[in-house]
Amino acid sequence: MAESMKGLKRTHRCTEVSAANIGETVTVMGWVQKSRNKGGIIFTDLRDRSGLLQIIFEGSDIGEDGFAKAEKIRSEFVIAVVGKVEKRGGAQNDNLITGDIEIRATQLRILSEAETPPFPIETDSKTKEELRLKYRYLDLRRPDLQKNLRIRSEITMKMREYYAANGFLEIETPILGKSTPEGARDYLVPSRVHPGTFYALPQSPQLFKQLLMCSGFDRYMQLAKCFRDEDLRADRQPEFTQMDLEMSFVDVDDVIAVNEGAIQKIFKEILDVDVKLPIDRMTWQEAMDRFGSDKPDLRFGMELKDVSELVKNCGFGVFTGALENGGSVRGINVKGQAEMPRKKIDALVEFAKGYGAKGLAYLSVQPDGTYKSSFAKFMTEDELKALVAAMDGEKGDLLFFAADKNKVVWDVLGALRIEVAKQLDLIDPAAFRFLWVTEFPLFEWSDEENRYKAMHHPFTMPMEEDLELIDTDMGRARAKAYDIVLNGTELGGGSVRIHQNDVQEKMLEKLGFTKEQAYEQFGFLLDAFKYGVPPHAGMAFGLDRLVMLMVKADSIREVMAFPKVKDASCLMTEAPGAVDDKQLEELEIKLDLKEE
Ligand code: AMO
Ligand code: AMP
Repeated sequence: MAESMKGLKRTHRCTEVSAANIGETVTVMGWVQKSRNKGGIIFTDLRDRSGLLQIIFEGSDIGEDGFAKAEKIRSEFVIAVVGKVEKRGGAQNDNLITGDIEIRATQLRILSEAETPPFPIETDSKTKEELRLKYRYLDLRRPDLQKNLRIRSEITMKMREYYAANGFLEIETPILGKSTPEGARDYLVPSRVHPGTFYALPQSPQLFKQLLMCSGFDRYMQLAKCFRDEDLRADRQPEFTQMDLEMSFVDVDDVIAVNEGAIQKIFKEILDVDVKLPIDRMTWQEAMDRFGSDKPDLRFGMELKDVSELVKNCGFGVFTGALENGGSVRGINVKGQAEMPRKKIDALVEFAKGYGAKGLAYLSVQPDGTYKSSFAKFMTEDELKALVAAMDGEKGDLLFFAADKNKVVWDVLGALRIEVAKQLDLIDPAAFRFLWVTEFPLFEWSDEENRYKAMHHPFTMPMEEDLELIDTDMGRARAKAYDIVLNGTELGGGSVRIHQNDVQEKMLEKLGFTKEQAYEQFGFLLDAFKYGVPPHAGMAFGLDRLVMLMVKADSIREVMAFPKVKDASCLMTEAPGAVDDKQLEELEIKLDLKEE
């Protein structure tokens, strides 16, 4: 029995009604949060995106028929109410914005009835995420998700405002394109007109924005949908949004300055948090050496220390063996945890193995000054003393050491540092710690492919002073690339781009592209550079991650309206799905499915 709203016009959202309206007649519309019939009087909480408002139905105001209708309303019914604003009769509800008033209804319309939802619509739902995502349209009614998406909208509005004020033009780039060499797997779209060929959905607008610089647009920005077929995690989705930008005639400092200005504005205007500028900077090398990570969480200490020099001649074969293999030995000092039970230590050793460690050596300095350790027996008393001193170890401390190739040692201790900090509650959840990480390596060794790959992408400019290293020692060459990190999450990244043909050609050659392959993949860019290209640089923020960190959510799924789950499917629409034979025929595609 759905009624129309003919003749009625909403005058207020629920929480727009206040004590200032007492005595006025208002019309409100929304969903029924809950309705309690106290016999002769019905109290209903009405909900819309702004919040809750209490409605009172009594026969003396609304008539017998009206009251009978009010008796029928259930949770999630959509209703329209006309009524008079009154000071709340019963106890005031300080938890509600509208806790000091109520609406005495004179008219009620049931605009839509509702079945009982599969889970209650409330903040901090304990409902399993699978169920929530299957009924995402109901899940999105929850006040916390409403708030997250509202803040997301505010952030994008402010970004557009900021970048426009700084001379950026918003320009859209194609979704149907050619594969961009960003490094992840592409999502492909078959072409009907050109059977056997495929568009690739953009992993980022990288090449197009560089072309826009060639075309003279000077400053470009876009809230760009990007698609990457990679393994999903809490901060990764197959489709996500970048706040993407590119600038001409600039260098690293210019890009950093304009973008930290954006961060400062958004945090101030949305969260009233002051971000002090300039944001700290750290080179990639320093970040790895001190934190074992290129996205260090600076909200706590527990920094890594390199003790390779100290242990190179010691009696512990694990240490000396790693050093002989060109690796290092590094440690962290967990202050005051000498008494950590063996079981917990063993669990941390297992944790470390999950990050590639062959083992994890530990040493605790007991309150009486003696050592408990997994390797003390291999070292002299003096060696141990020197090691403890190098780690700033005091009575009561627990030291962990990893010995391996640098990359493994960094991965293991970087992850262990965070795990231990979480377990010991060392992280201030209210803090926002930003950091620019600069001077990334130009190349990164891929064990899988047994060759060097571009760490950022092949269009990233080497540091001038490292140009020669590209030929002599490419692993050590650094790039004009930078990331912005917030609380240990990579929020965004970018680089100065190569605009000289000779440098670009050398890069591509070093990355194993033949001239033909390079032209085949992005000849249009190389050609464009022949017609006058300005020096240019840019970056992209992961918008979803920014919103996630700003609202303190655990996952970017909490700040996206319709996210996908781990296997990249949508539980609500059940995408991806099979298609008609006819559609496949048109595309001239035959399936050759592997048996399970
Ligand atoms: P990059 O690949 O570093 O750079 O991406 C920029 C930022 O996008 C976010 N991001 C993601 N967010 C959610 N889900 C994902 N799967 C995902 N992948 C990346 C991250 C990341 O920092 N074209 C370059 C930018 C440039 O050089 O200008 C690029 O795409 O927050
Ligand atoms: P083992 O002699 O193999 O029992 O090792 C002695 C200690 O060294 C144990 O605590 C191991 O966990 C630890 N260990 C083994 N390999 C490594 C490694 N690569 N780095 C640090 N510690 C290790």
